Amino acid sequence: MNYKEIEQAVSDIDITLPPPEKEPERQYYFISKLREWMNQKKKEKGRSLTCCVNTFGCQMNARDSEKILGILNMIGYEENESEDADLVIFNTCTVRENANLKVYGRLGQLKKYKKKNPEMVTMLCGCMMQEKEVVEKIKKSYRNVDIIFGTHNIFKFAELLAMKVLDRADSKKMIIDVWEDTTEIVEELPIERKYRFKSGVNIMFGCNNFCSYCIVPYVRGRERSREPEDIIAEIKCLVADGVVEVMLLGQNVNSYGKNLKNPISFTELLRRVEAIEGLERIRFMTSHPKDLSDELIAYMGESKKLCKQMHLPLQSGSDRLLKIMNRHYTKEDYLLLVDKIRKAVPDIAITTDIIVGFPGETEEDFAETLDVVEKVQYDSAFTFIYSKRTGTPAASMEEQIPEEVVKERFDKLLKRIQDIASDKAKKDVGKTVDVLVEEKNEQDENFVTGRTSQNYVVHFPGDESLIGKIVPVKLCESKGFYYMGEMVNA
Ligand code: SAH
Ligand code: SF4
Ligand code: F3S
Repeated sequence: MNYKEIEQAVSDIDITLPPPEKEPERQYYFISKLREWMNQKKKEKGRSLTCCVNTFGCQMNARDSEKILGILNMIGYEENESEDADLVIFNTCTVRENANLKVYGRLGQLKKYKKKNPEMVTMLCGCMMQEKEVVEKIKKSYRNVDIIFGTHNIFKFAELLAMKVLDRADSKKMIIDVWEDTTEIVEELPIERKYRFKSGVNIMFGCNNFCSYCIVPYVRGRERSREPEDIIAEIKCLVADGVVEVMLLGQNVNSYGKNLKNPISFTELLRRVEAIEGLERIRFMTSHPKDLSDELIAYMGESKKLCKQMHLPLQSGSDRLLKIMNRHYTKEDYLLLVDKIRKAVPDIAITTDIIVGFPGETEEDFAETLDVVEKVQYDSAFTFIYSKRTGTPAASMEEQIPEEVVKERFDKLLKRIQDIASDKAKKDVGKTVDVLVEEKNEQDENFVTGRTSQNYVVHFPGDESLIGKIVPVKLCESKGFYYMGEMVNA
């Protein structure tokens, strides 16, 4: 169903009856009730209530925030850039410790807004809320929070908000609804996209890999795939609404479909997505090297719509560490994979994630990582300092590495990655490539900004009318991480 059809279904719900049990109708019921409440509030205040959704973390969280905004929009909230709003939501990330610290800092700052506007509602959701210690800490030290929910019940957002604002008896209590895990996937709820012409699409949720440093499987639950029919229907709706590029999202897209009643492979899903008329570009994220199939590599060589970009997290180049990290591949396996991918798609951009300072990492281990970086010549890489996550196997490993050593290795790695990326980018200067125009340039209004198939950013002279279009652009100058270009045949 598209946005309009969902809106119709919401309007058709009879709110004089008790709420239905079945989803998503139950949520349509609460959205409808909240719309009625919003109309009253508008009359009272002479304006709509405002909301601010702050997103931390990865693409999954970004997509979840679009789901929350879709519901808020249907209720009648107006989006506000600042946190001085009637409803503030933090969609949190906990993959590294500093992600958590940011949220606590921001929560403290909210107190001043709440003083000014006592009816303000504060909500916390996302991965951090799946941790019991976090919820305990908030209960104790951040009494200004009204509602806490987790990653598994975002679909219940309208119901939770209704509990708070419609049921006055409950209005002083902190509402906490965090589920340990779920097998439920609720479809057909409204989603508000950040971009008109491109969109993320969840193809699966959760993760079963339990890499020994990573908290994601604990906070996102077990892997479950969406039905291919639901994914295709969603993308068709998106395309009808102007989307030309989709990013298929999952923690490990290469294992898509294995747990379905009628299993299908990720490559088969891609074939079906590619057949959708009007869709022009397909990206996906993330690929675990252990599950990347020859079938997919061959398909990448044939496909007309798959972008020439592959994010292939390495984490470490040391076989010893890869084993302790529970990654199930060796340095040699990884390098072989990169070779195969480059043979199939010669001009593909390969990017990666690397962790520095995993417990017990020696100079030799680190040298192996640098060696892979030299051999692969990444187009770009995210480098992370290892962060101890409570409850993961790595957190209790001995030999946590001293901060100064990690910092030194980190700086060395980052410098090498940046130099390689910058040299690589120079090689494409002079070429003409297709660019999907995304927005007006922030600094110069006579320029627009877009992305190449390889996911490089390009700035070039142009106006707003180009936004959402794919146009040929000559890459005139490389600035390391982005290009300055010029549109061809304008
Ligand atoms: N599912 C994706 C990654 C999700 S988390 C994958 O497997 O590739 C994104 C990145 O965060 C990871 O690739 C890893 O490099 C990094 N990361 C995860 N846990 C971390 C930790 N405890 N400390 C530092 N970096 C971490
Ligand atoms: Fe974390 Fe590993 Fe799962 Fe990625 S594959 S989310 S790094 S456990
Ligand atoms: Fe963070 Fe959760 Fe993503 S922990 S990286 S927001 S899956």
